[in-house]
Amino acid sequence: MSKRYLITSALPYANGALHLGHLAGAYLPADIYVRYLRLLGKDVVWVCGSDEHGAAITIRAKKEGVSPQAIIDKYHALNKNTFAALGISFDYYHRTSTPLHHQTSQDFFTTLYNQGDQFDERVIEQYYDEEYDQFLADRYIVGTCPKCGHEEAYGDQCENCGSALSPLELINPRSTISGNSPVLRETKHWYFRLDKHEAWLREWIAEGTIAGVPHHQAEQWKKHVVGQCLSWLDGGLQPRSITRDLDWGIPVPLPEAKGKVLYVWFDAPIGYISATKQWAQEKGLNWEDYWKGGDDVELIHFIGKDNIVFHCIVFPAMLRAHGDFVLPRNVPANQFLNFEGQKFSKSRGWGIEQHQYLEEFSDFPNKEDALRYALVRNLPENRDSDFRWDDFVDFYDKELADNLGNFVNRVLVLTQKYYDGVLPEVQVDLSEELLSVRRLVEEWQLEIERFSFKNAIQLVMEISSFGNTYLQDKSPWAIWKTDPDSEEVKECMFVSVQVVALLAVLLEPFLPFTAPRIREVLGLAPVAPGELSATLDKVAAGEPLLATGHRLGEPTVLFPKINDRKDSSRLEIIDRQRLKLQEIMEAEQPITAHEPVKEEIQYDDFAKLDLRTGTIVAAERVPKADKLLKLSVDLGFETRTIVSGIAEHYTPESLAGKQVVIVANLAPRKLRGIESQGMILLAENGEGKLDFVSWTAGFGNGLVVK
Ligand code: MF3
Ligand code: ZN
Repeated sequence: MSKRYLITSALPYANGALHLGHLAGAYLPADIYVRYLRLLGKDVVWVCGSDEHGAAITIRAKKEGVSPQAIIDKYHALNKNTFAALGISFDYYHRTSTPLHHQTSQDFFTTLYNQGDQFDERVIEQYYDEEYDQFLADRYIVGTCPKCGHEEAYGDQCENCGSALSPLELINPRSTISGNSPVLRETKHWYFRLDKHEAWLREWIAEGTIAGVPHHQAEQWKKHVVGQCLSWLDGGLQPRSITRDLDWGIPVPLPEAKGKVLYVWFDAPIGYISATKQWAQEKGLNWEDYWKGGDDVELIHFIGKDNIVFHCIVFPAMLRAHGDFVLPRNVPANQFLNFEGQKFSKSRGWGIEQHQYLEEFSDFPNKEDALRYALVRNLPENRDSDFRWDDFVDFYDKELADNLGNFVNRVLVLTQKYYDGVLPEVQVDLSEELLSVRRLVEEWQLEIERFSFKNAIQLVMEISSFGNTYLQDKSPWAIWKTDPDSEEVKECMFVSVQVVALLAVLLEPFLPFTAPRIREVLGLAPVAPGELSATLDKVAAGEPLLATGHRLGEPTVLFPKINDRKDSSRLEIIDRQRLKLQEIMEAEQPITAHEPVKEEIQYDDFAKLDLRTGTIVAAERVPKADKLLKLSVDLGFETRTIVSGIAEHYTPESLAGKQVVIVANLAPRKLRGIESQGMILLAENGEGKLDFVSWTAGFGNGLVVK
């Protein structure tokens, strides 16, 4: 029996839209991996869906003044459609409000309950709102944080200092439903005896074995994942309450548990199982082949780091307690993605949601892959990372446009021109010509297998760079002019087309919108499941992917550059995003502007100024002058020395590369013995803060400012 792959991504709460950090955490990496497996022809199912229970949903519903059902319907549809639009190719996107999921969760509970020793019953004291006649979930209680004094701390956590809390620790607790002080009442709950699973969990995580039998290679798990688990285990595992007094959720299937539901973190991971059931049913397959297939199954959970404990400790314990389920072979959790140096924040409007990106970039060429590329280049695989629009522009212009797009385009245009787009007959040893490419492909595969997608995409780009360099070294255009029948030119184009064909396959998991377009210009249908295996075999054997006589399609520009002198439309889309952030910051930290301070002048006065664009290429301190820096500014036609009084605002190291505007016809003047040949324009706010009057990279030095 060949291996079956069961891949899951964290079920997002259906109480809001998802932002780019979510995408980079648990969905894009899984999509890359699953597409890769499909290309290899593996038997794989990838499930996800909406997490539709828990207090997060009911609180949101209350805020919006609608029913919880209306909330989950709205966000389930939004998230599902947005994922699809970004090419996130789940096999099934289920939801936990379905009868199938309720039944599956209740059966799971009952199985553990009937074993007799997995659960404890406990009567505890909990806060109760007497006006509304209900127990209060942790999130429904606010009060003063005992650690930092923050007055709006929640019953489970203080968002000011980050401490984990229990409702009983809050000072002056209040119900968020009525505003009253809650009273303590007795209530019965069921606890999962996690403590009984501590020993085998520790061995499983630290060694990758269960009772000495190998399960997985422990050293292949990410260090931060194992580290977080072991520190949890070191703290000792306690029984965990798995029921709640709430009227939204899955009823606890016990006669004495009326009005109680399963805790959302008990039922949500079971959502992976019910999603697989639903998928299998629709496909006419058996879900147990995936969940109960023992060593034949590779179960991989893709999640963000806030979900590690649930997926590496609690859910595995539940699965093993049940008895017949497989355990995850790896949990390649990602860390967090920040946005322009700060945490994503819905309330501040800091960050961008997935659906918002699609709307605001609707006119941006290849917007889905432009985003996927920027995210994968910067995935928080082992540490937190930061999404920046500057990087987005650089990745797109320098890597997608200048490297990849340019290579594909040049090869196609030249082959059309020289051979009418038909691959010529050649005598060439591909295994020799493409030796370095073969090595890169082998590394690429290893990186994907170890969930290092950031490295993997860079290897694909190295193959593209190789192609560009190869083409440049051979310069077929120089030979062809005098010898259109040259064997060398035929060979060069034949080899280059093979590299393009290879790129189209290797890119598919990362850029699923671009890969088919490259295939189209190559005169091929989109890559088929299993095609990667055949491709890898051919590369290893030095066989061509496209044979002599193959007819190519028409070349197109895949990635029109953002920084384009003739068309600023793409840069404007990016600039709107930058502006939004600037407005948020200004609203939070108002800037005091100057009133007009100088007398009125005529146009002719202004026209006397020769204002030019320039780039600072070097900066150094002026000895014994605290305020002065000596700058070299490239004006395109010459480099000027300018002495500027900005040493208290900028370090010399921070200045190289800054685009500035200078007054180029100011009479030279000596400052501290140095001749200053112009003046740099700066903006100063009411508090004396300075910023450069600047222009857009890619425009060019020495241009006249009007
Ligand atoms: N809804 C949870 C969150 O967004 C994740 C649930 S993952 C699952 O943090 F395993 F429970 F499904
Ligand atoms: Zn606090």
